[in-house]
Amino acid sequence: MTNRATFGSKLGVILATVGSAVGLGNIWRFPYMLGENGGAAFLLVYILCILLLGLPVMITEFFIGRYSQRNAAGAFKALAPGSKWSIIGYNGVLAAFMILGFYSVVAGWTLEYFVQAVTGSLGGKSAAEFTADFERFSSGVFRPIAWTVVFVALTHTIVISGVKNGIERASKIMMPLLFLILAILCVRSLTLPDAGKGIAFLFNPDFGKITSSAILSAMGQAFFSLSIGMGCLITYSSYFYKETNLQRIALQVTLLDTLVALLAGVMIFPAVFSFQIEPTAGVELVFITLPNVFGQMPFGAVWSFIFFVLLALAALTSTISLHEVATAYVLEEHKISRAKAATYVSLGVLVLGVVSSLSLGIWKEYTLFGLSFFNLLDYVTAKIMLPFGGMLICLFVGRRIDRKILKAELTNNGTIPFYFFHTYAFFMKYIAPVAIGFIFLNELGIIKWMV
Ligand code: PHE
Repeated sequence: MTNRATFGSKLGVILATVGSAVGLGNIWRFPYMLGENGGAAFLLVYILCILLLGLPVMITEFFIGRYSQRNAAGAFKALAPGSKWSIIGYNGVLAAFMILGFYSVVAGWTLEYFVQAVTGSLGGKSAAEFTADFERFSSGVFRPIAWTVVFVALTHTIVISGVKNGIERASKIMMPLLFLILAILCVRSLTLPDAGKGIAFLFNPDFGKITSSAILSAMGQAFFSLSIGMGCLITYSSYFYKETNLQRIALQVTLLDTLVALLAGVMIFPAVFSFQIEPTAGVELVFITLPNVFGQMPFGAVWSFIFFVLLALAALTSTISLHEVATAYVLEEHKISRAKAATYVSLGVLVLGVVSSLSLGIWKEYTLFGLSFFNLLDYVTAKIMLPFGGMLICLFVGRRIDRKILKAELTNNGTIPFYFFHTYAFFMKYIAPVAIGFIFLNELGIIKWMV
């Protein structure tokens, strides 16, 4: 395809991709997954998943996207015409819709908290009051839905402005600022009374806590956080330049994403223990911990204002990338305008968003497998669809793509070295798919290796 959109600069490529990876996954989902799955042991398994599965899958997605120059579903049609491999792309497009369905609800919460910071209603409450307030707000009808709509509208506006002006420009400003504020908040949290307990929870592993479901959660979190397994990075890398060093970008994105998750952990857990909040609090963990931390800081309202703006922006660079997966697919495969494609996607997402928001409140009783609609979307995407997609992506490239073509693309036709190419290829072809399959079978109880 000629004249395909690209990102406008090298920095833009990195920031947009980091922007996709870094988001609520790192700051909202990672801490509560870690809290629910026993702390440091989870962190250890998570880091193993990032290195052994995440990095090889990410490089492989970059290969597929830039080599094919197509959207998530189109890429497989182009590389393996007439085959069933395009199911990977459809799995990804569907996952994008489903993730956006609950992600935009949480993103909407960040806007509510931002407004509360501005109006001063976050100050002077006890930990119990913050918890009660969060529960009241998130189980309500009008406010959370209104914020979800606002968030989807913001995402929509940026996506229709296209790759360079929308996605790239937004990421360039937001990402560096986010790092800075996280670092400041870590320092504040570490100097709270009893901070040491939080650090021990985060870094002192109890290996008895490594259960089969903790491993599945860690794997799901690794895929979710790196934005892999659903064609998001296939879509983004299709906008990369021919000169982009794919290996380097993969390494940088992986490291930065993991760093942000760790910073989020260091920011949250000392505060969790200091304010005697339960680490297993679930989806509300961040929303009840942080207002407490801000309350302990001079100019707390200013800090919370900056933090929730940045969290909303980090969420926005991720929702843009999710939206783009679906929009690029509809636009290219159904040959309609970007604006129209984006509108269909936004409307679909809004329906899912409204239902997930209500499923935390008035529709709480309607559950499937014991999960609310919100939690079901989260579970099915992160723990099933993304790892499954990642497994198939590895199998596809491992079986269908000539090694010489793979190596030529990943070394920009031999102009940059790839020192560990064989190790990467081995992990991608064998280790990653076998490990993912094994974790699935173990969780389903088909292989009994761990409880
Ligand atoms: N990685 C994003 C986050 O951590 C979420 C995401 C998942 C974005 C999948 C795109 C694709 O917030």
